[in-house]
Amino acid sequence: MLVESIKLENFRNYGSLELEFDPGTNLFYGDNAQGKTNILEAVYLCGTTRSHKGSKDREMIHFDRDEAHICMRIRKGDVPYRIDMHLKKSKTKGIAINGVPVRKAGELIGLGNFVFFSPEDLNIIKNGPGERRRFLDMELCQLDSIYLFHLSNYNKLLLQRNRLLKDYGFYPEAGTMLDVIDEQLIQYGTALIRSRRVFTDQLQEIIGGIHSSLSGRKEDLTVTYEPNAEETEFGQKLQENREKDLRMKQTMTGPHRDDLGFAVHGVDLRKYGSQGQQRTTALSLKLAEIEIVKQSVKDTPVLLLDDVLSELDGSRQRYLLENIHDIQTMITCTGVDDFVENNFQIDRLFQVVEGTVERRN
Ligand SMILES: Nc1ncnc2c1ncn2[C@@H]1O[C@H](COP(=O)(O)OP(=O)(O)OP(=O)(O)O)[C@@H](O)[C@H]1O
Ligand SMILES: [Mg+2]
Repeated sequence: MLVESIKLENFRNYGSLELEFDPGTNLFYGDNAQGKTNILEAVYLCGTTRSHKGSKDREMIHFDRDEAHICMRIRKGDVPYRIDMHLKKSKTKGIAINGVPVRKAGELIGLGNFVFFSPEDLNIIKNGPGERRRFLDMELCQLDSIYLFHLSNYNKLLLQRNRLLKDYGFYPEAGTMLDVIDEQLIQYGTALIRSRRVFTDQLQEIIGGIHSSLSGRKEDLTVTYEPNAEETEFGQKLQENREKDLRMKQTMTGPHRDDLGFAVHGVDLRKYGSQGQQRTTALSLKLAEIEIVKQSVKDTPVLLLDDVLSELDGSRQRYLLENIHDIQTMITCTGVDDFVENNFQIDRLFQVVEGTVERRN
């Protein structure tokens, strides 16, 4: 798929902006705080309904305005689509596909696929399990709208359950209420565990080869899914731990406590990996993510690379750029020096200055 153009109105620091993208590499350069990341955020938001950094709708509307609009044109094969998004300060956003309003934001899922890569992603291996779960969820939600449905139901039930555990003594019916919640929690939780296992198996098949090339054939990487409770035992464990949960006033068992393990030759990279190893693994993970999208949806995703190149050494920069030349990319950086020095290809060059964008080639 390709993003052909985007139009912004009152989005972040943009009053009004219209851009046409090249199907290859689009480079946005400019000083800090000019609005480069905001463009990638708008593309990602319009494609996935969410900001890559989890910003709320009202935070993305221009400070002085009450509403923002984004209109993005994409193309899948020969078929053009137009996505309109209307952000409001205190109401949920409105979305239309080809002029037809959609009832739920989830209906946009699967129309386009976007991979966002920011410098923070390079820390995914060394940071806590929450970020690795977020990675799993973001990927699976994009690839599978049923997963999104399961996840949001699970999260809602978990919240209800934890609230009930806190107020347990105040409700005479609390035991029955907990039974009802648990039954559904087990159903949705089990589905999440199953999907995550399938996804991790797919990831494992792909990431090994990528990581081996990136590390100069020196490292053999394995990724393992580490569920807090296995698919078949989640229900039973939840029941067994009920007393403990009541004491702790929170749910201690379930996929909200899962993790992904990364190991090279049996050594856990989360704990013992060097900085370089951890960052290379994070890069492998992103490249594997692109590959999984290609295989799963039989289409190429659009890659949004926010300020990542300056964080990588020359050989990793080269590897990354060589491996994404067949997909549309939007890259931000402060200067174009790396590109010029290394003869990296730029198909369209834009300079960003204080919420305005000028084409420079
Ligand atoms: N809701 C908003 N309304 C108006 N301006 C905003 C809003 N949100 C953020 N900004 C402004 O947008 C600018 C930041 O834009 P952005 O993050 O895209 O910069 P950048 O060019 O990527 O910079 P860097 O190189 O530091 O990453 C800041 O000046 C910020 O004040
Ligand atoms: Mg930025």
